Order: sequence, then C-alpha cells, then structure tokens
Amino acid sequence: MAAEGQRVVLITGCSSGIGLAIAVMLARDERKRYYVLATMRDLKRKDKLVEAAGDAYGKTLSLLTLDVCSDESVKQCVNSIKDRHIDILINNAGVGLVGPVEAISLDNMKQVFETNFFGVVRMIKEVMPDMKRRRSGHIMVISSVLGLHGVAFNDVYSASKFATEGLCEALAIQLLQFNVKVSMIEPGPVNTEFELKLMTEVSKKEFAGADPETLHHFRTCYLPTQVNLFKGLGQTPEDIAKVTKKVIESPRPPFRNLTNPLYTPIVALKYADETRSLSVHTFYHMLYNLGGVMHVSVRIMKFLSFGWLRRRAISPT
Ligand SMILES: NC(=O)c1ccc[n+]([C@@H]2O[C@H](COP(=O)([O-])OP(=O)(O)OC[C@H]3O[C@@H](n4cnc5c(N)ncnc54)[C@H](OP(=O)(O)O)[C@@H]3O)[C@@H](O)[C@H]2O)c1
Repeated sequence: MAAEGQRVVLITGCSSGIGLAIAVMLARDERKRYYVLATMRDLKRKDKLVEAAGDAYGKTLSLLTLDVCSDESVKQCVNSIKDRHIDILINNAGVGLVGPVEAISLDNMKQVFETNFFGVVRMIKEVMPDMKRRRSGHIMVISSVLGLHGVAFNDVYSASKFATEGLCEALAIQLLQFNVKVSMIEPGPVNTEFELKLMTEVSKKEFAGADPETLHHFRTCYLPTQVNLFKGLGQTPEDIAKVTKKVIESPRPPFRNLTNPLYTPIVALKYADETRSLSVHTFYHMLYNLGGVMHVSVRIMKFLSFGWLRRRAISPT
C-alpha cells in the first residue's frame, strides 16, 4: 500500500519494454515518491519486471492484472485499488502493425484500435472522473512520433496514435479546469520487443491482396530502412522512462514531448508548411530515393546532432 505522501502511479503493459522501464525507474526513485501499480494482462510474464525492480518489488511496486481491451478487467483492476485513488495514469500498452493497407484485414486493424485507442479511452473513462472530483491528477500516454506524422506502411498504427493524440488534445483543454494534466510522450524508434514482434509477424505473412510492385517497395525499401533506423537512431526504454519521469516531475508538464531530438526537424517540417506537401514529398524521397543510403544519412544525422543539439527537444507546441 502507498505510504503517506507517495503518489500512486498506475502503468499499463509492464511485462516488457517501455512500461517495464518506467515502472522500475519510478519504483526505484531515490526519494521513494512513487507507489507503482505495474499492470500486465498475464502475470505469468512478471519475471523480467520483478527481477529488474529488485528490492523495490513489494515495497514501492506491486503487480495487478489488467487487459486494456476488456471493460471488466479495467473495472476490476481500478476497483481493487484503495479508494480507487490513482494520481498518475500512464497508458503504455500498445501493439504495432505494418504492411500495405489493402493486405490487412479489417479485423486486424480493429484489434490495433482496440488496444492503442479504445484501450486508452477505457482507462481514461475509469480513472478520470475520480481525478476530476479530487481536482488533481496526471494522465499520460506513450504515443509515438507516428502520432504526429504518418509513415508509409504504418498507416493503421499511425491512425491509432493520431486518434489518441486528438482525443487527448481535446481532453487536455477541458481538464485544465479541473487541475488534471494530460501529457503525451512521443518516442521515435525504441529498441524493445515491439519491433521484434512486428518483424516476426511480417516474415510469416504473405500480404495477399497487395500487388507485386507495392510488396516489392514494402520489402526492399521500407523494411531495410526500418532496420537501419532502429539500429542507428533507436533509443533505449530507459531513455523513454527518463523523459517520462522528467515530465511527471515538471511543475507545468508539457502536453507534447518528443523523446528523440533527431526527430525534431521531421516534425517541424510538417508544421512549417500548412499544405503538408513538403513533408509528404520529403518522406517519399527518404523512402524511395534515399533508402539505399539511409545508413549513411543516419550516421551523418547522429554526427551532426551530437552534443548540444541532442539535448534539445523542441516540441511543436
Ligand atoms: N518500440 C518502439 O519503437 C515504440 C516507438 C514509439 C512508441 N511506442 C509505444 O510504446 C508503447 C510500449 O511499447 P514497447 O516498445 O515497450 O513494446 P513492447 O515491449 O511490445 O510492450 C508492449 C506492452 O503492451 C502490452 N499489451 C499489449 N496489449 C495489451 C492489452 N490488451 N492489455 C494490456 N497490455 C497489453 C504488452 O503485454 P504482453 O506481454 O501481454 O503482450 C507489453 O507489455 C506502445 O504503446 C507503443 O506503441 C513504441
């Protein structure tokens, strides 16, 4: 149970990756300011988290079952918390999906929205009314840079994160009146199981329904570029946890928070041209004309932005 003065943090999807790193970093806070309710849909997957939490497990971190796709599971989990009191809700659970749209079933697309969008809606609907009543709280979402600009062959995943960004941007305005803060964390590539799961899925799929030319672009332009981006620009889950903790501890938490300064120019491009043609054409050239030299471009970008620039993260807001 949380000690007096400790802030109760509920995090979804803590069995691996970013959720696990945030849970551990907050639970191991030197000043013990947080009591972390680390949730996952299957507690059989708890071992990695328990090991990483070390002696914080059972003291400042405890585990709960929660599947963000189930109304019942969300309700049961929140009702099991003392006084249903949650100070900080971190919506992290998410799934990816890549491939040509015409080759992806509607059921598969709905599944992504069920987790990435409706999962967040379900959590917010359950937790926000108590926060409004108490006139205090912080709702966070691990979104993505793909929630700010679309990337080819990530159409449905991008759409699910755009939808979440829209939902939260609208809520943030209303919730100011209730002293409830809303913050989005927008990572670029992060080296977690996420990419591995996607690549394993892609290697098994035939993508029936897509024409050979599109499939050729997907396999020979998009996939190698993705691998290079993760290798060259990928952050660690701990990098994302650090940004998240900083946002939580900020006296005026920003709404948008890019975690990787290397993505700042890409996002800025979108806001620099109201017609968005500039960013559409830039992405086209990056994918189809520069794909072969992407690994060199990534190295140059890293070199140019080393040092002072890497520390700057400019948000579009
Ligand atoms: N990795 C990246 O490059 C990247 C970049 C930008 C944004 N993000 C976002 O960061 C978040 C975390 O991703 P990650 O990179 O840490 O990937 P990850 O290691 O695959 O973690 C995703 C987590 O979500 C959980 N999850 C999936 N469906 C769930 C459900 N219905 N209910 C509860 N939990 C569920 C998974 O649990 P199981 O173990 O049960 O599957 C897992 O713990 C996601 O929202 C993702 O969109 C990731």
